[in-house]
Order: sequence, then C-alpha cells, then structure tokens
Amino acid sequence: MSASWAVITGASSGLGVEYADRLAGEGTNVLLVARRTGHLVEVAEDIRARHGVEAEAHPADLTLAGERAELIRRMSELDVSHLVNNAGFGTMGNFHETDPGRIDQEVQLNVMALTDLTRAVVPGMVARGAGAVIQVASTAAFQPLPTMAVYAATKAYVLRFGTALWEELHSTGVRVVVICPGPTDTEFFHKAGDDSVMRTRRTPGQVVDTTMRALRAHRPVAVDGLPNAAMAFATRLAPLGVQARVARRVATY
Ligand SMILES: NC(=O)c1ccc[n+]([C@@H]2O[C@H](COP(=O)([O-])OP(=O)(O)OC[C@H]3O[C@@H](n4cnc5c(N)ncnc54)[C@H](OP(=O)(O)O)[C@@H]3O)[C@@H](O)[C@H]2O)c1
Repeated sequence: MSASWAVITGASSGLGVEYADRLAGEGTNVLLVARRTGHLVEVAEDIRARHGVEAEAHPADLTLAGERAELIRRMSELDVSHLVNNAGFGTMGNFHETDPGRIDQEVQLNVMALTDLTRAVVPGMVARGAGAVIQVASTAAFQPLPTMAVYAATKAYVLRFGTALWEELHSTGVRVVVICPGPTDTEFFHKAGDDSVMRTRRTPGQVVDTTMRALRAHRPVAVDGLPNAAMAFATRLAPLGVQARVARRVATY
C-alpha cells in the first residue's frame, strides 16, 4: 500500500468528493477535510471499501486559524504527495448589503486557508523533489463580477497566486495547477443562495478530468469546458470596466 497522502479540502460534497475518489483510485491515501463530520465519514468509508487505501476524515472549519493550525499539525505527520485546495464558497448580492461576517469567512476560506495550507506542504515537496498542488479557482477569476464581487476577487487571487507558484516551482519537481471550473453541478449555487442559475452545468467528473490532464501536461492553468475557456479568453480582451458591465448581464461563475 502507498505511504503517500492526498489532502483534499471541501471533501464532504461536490468537486472535493470527486478529487478524493480519483486520487484514491490512483492508490493514494486520502485525508478528507470539511466541517460536516457525517458526510466525511461516509465518503471515507466508501473510498476505503472501493479503493483499499487509507481514508481519514478530518473535520475542520478552515475559516478558523486554530483549526487550520491543527490540520497543518496532522499533515506534518504524513507524507503529503498531493494538496487539493478545493474548499470554497461564494456570497451573492450587492456588496454593501452582504453580511460582513460572511465576507470575512469567504476571504478566510478562499484565500487564507488556501495560502496557509500551500505554505505548509510546499517546503516538504520541494525537499523531496516531488508533489502536486491543485488550486481550485473559477471562471469568475477572469473578470470583476458585480453581485459576486468578493467571490470573484478571491478567485482572481487563487489564479494569480497559483500561476506564480507554478513558475517558482517549475524546476523543483513540484507541480502546480490552477483549475477554473465554470458552472458545475454541485451544492455551490444552492449555498450561494441562488439555485436558479439555469445555464448548462458541467459534472464534477469532467472538472477532475480537466484538472488531471493539465497536471500531467504541466500546464499552469486549465479552464474546464470549451465554452468556458472561450469566454475566459474573450473576456480578457476588454477593459476592466467593460468586463464588469458585461459580467453583470451575463454572470459567469
Ligand atoms: N460548482 C461550481 O459551479 C463552481 C464553479 C467554479 C468554482 N467552484 C469552486 O469549486 C470549489 C468546490 O465547490 P463545489 O462546487 O464542490 O461546492 P460544494 O459542493 O458546496 O463544496 C464546497 C466544499 O467546501 C467545504 N467547505 C465550505 N466551507 C468550509 C469551511 N468553513 N471549512 C472547511 N470546508 C468548508 C464544504 O464542506 P462543509 O460544508 O462540510 O464544510 C464542501 O465540502 C469551491 O472552491 C468553489 O468556489 C465551483
């Protein structure tokens, strides 16, 4: 049995479950992180039964620095070969009407937790000359997004941070990829408070396929799905103010 571990945040639903399943299928043990203990335990049992690897549930609220520190302590006991920074959520609505506490949690989770966990694992990966970090951003990263202003800004951070890291680590043997999904069929929109987004959604399996292809090809950034990739490319050609105007009409998540 493999001694290496993949740490997957947000592994109680959606994309995180799919990442955990895929990496376990490749023979890697998995440390599953999220707040809902019951969900994590179910996912861990299923993975152990189907893939025969170790699967450990690690309940944690990653908006809290103390719980992030406890996770980092547990990670330091393991040989972490993969980190999937997937946990994230988005607030929806006008910024000035959004609960400040939710905004704080959104930045803590989407930005601070992702940065802290990356800082914790990368030195060991560099020392071993191997490892992979998957940073989950969004097509929202490519333009300012009125009514999801903070969410889009946090994902722009993930895109810029992850891409810089890809270059910094290029010759170390450590791989980094930023994956930018468009609308995908998970609990995301329900939790954001608007499940009426009717556009075609991709599946978690498709997003993970795109991620793994990009990781194998050493690409820094992958946008999941051809229409999403075309939109992300076209968006960048317009000035920021125009991007914001257009995004308000054609919301892209
Ligand atoms: N679905 C989409 O359309 C879409 C598009 C672009 C990007 N994304 C990104 O994809 C990633 C995964 O989202 P998803 O679509 O799979 O949505 P999801 O089903 O809502 O999954 C979000 C995961 O994050 C975890 N999480 C939320 N708050 C947390 C906290 N405070 N501490 C620890 N874990 C927390 C959730 O678990 P608990 O509630 O159990 O804590 C859950 O496992 C996110 O970063 C999201 O921004 C999604």
